[in-house]
Amino acid sequence: MQMPDEMLKHWMDAWLPNLEQSLKDAVSKEQGYDRKLWQAMEYSLLAGGKRLRPAFLMLSGLALGAAEEELTPFALAIEMIHTYSLIHDDLPAMDNDDFRRGRLTNHKVFGEGVAVLAGDGLLNLAAETMADAVLAMHPDRQLNGLRAMQRILHAAGPSGMIAGQTADIEAEEKRLGAEGLAFIDHNKTGQLLCAPFVCGALLAGADTSVCAALEKAGFRIGTAFQIQDDFLDVEGDAALLGKATGSDALNHKETFVTVYGLEQAKETAKRLSEDALRDLEVLPGSYGAMTRALTASLITRKY
Ligand code: IPE
Ligand code: IPE
Ligand code: MG
Ligand code: MG
Ligand code: MG
Repeated sequence: MQMPDEMLKHWMDAWLPNLEQSLKDAVSKEQGYDRKLWQAMEYSLLAGGKRLRPAFLMLSGLALGAAEEELTPFALAIEMIHTYSLIHDDLPAMDNDDFRRGRLTNHKVFGEGVAVLAGDGLLNLAAETMADAVLAMHPDRQLNGLRAMQRILHAAGPSGMIAGQTADIEAEEKRLGAEGLAFIDHNKTGQLLCAPFVCGALLAGADTSVCAALEKAGFRIGTAFQIQDDFLDVEGDAALLGKATGSDALNHKETFVTVYGLEQAKETAKRLSEDALRDLEVLPGSYGAMTRALTASLITRKY
């Protein structure tokens, strides 16, 4: 029998090229005066991120019996939204960063105006992609599709990621303390890492207790992920990360490291991930094992 991480590797090797192709197809359009917009969207979307959010959506949905072709549009949408959040996060008005996913940031190549619009474009395209998918579903499952779409848009919106990003801007000017920081991590990163798990379950029509366990797991994984991002910004390798380190210090940003210190940051990220692995026991079979393997692999991530 194959070990879960071997199974995961095989699954990733087969799935990832399809995902990349579908992302490419989504932003390949015959271009006129809008040429720069589509180029800018493609530039950041196809820059080779880790694709964690779509992977978690597919794996949790498949574990609970959803069909691959019904999960895929939602996986594309969450990656479009995540990419838009990065383009805007890097803007001079926000974190003012020059490198992302191993390349110059979007605004460095296309200018700030087009970078803003490329972010807007990806967000709208994500919503349209999900709405089209719901319309194409069998009527018996359309409500599940609508619930999944609602969940992703809520997670990305002003009560989710955008709320966290707003508090994050405030954390450059004043000290928000432990409570403020928990709000930031839960929302700016937790929301978009939690939504894929819940969406996978919703698209599979899973019952509420499974959704609740996945919701817990997702927020724990998301918070751990941001805590790691904070300490990798201090002591990570920029070449591996594909983005500059030291950005938070430059912006005088309050982070998990400035509030709790490096050691406690590392311990907390590990503990949250281990708790999440227990929550993820609700996912059965080999896809459940692969979901846990992907989560476990993040505990020691260097990028
Ligand atoms: C970076 O997310 C931004 C955070 C939420 C910390 P990822 O580390 O998942 O970025 P990519 O998608 O792999 O580039
Ligand atoms: C990003 O947090 C969260 C987003 C919603 C994009 P960071 O600002 O710490 O992410 P990086 O370090 O630039 O990737
Ligand atoms: Mg930021
Ligand atoms: Mg940033
Ligand atoms: Mg960061």
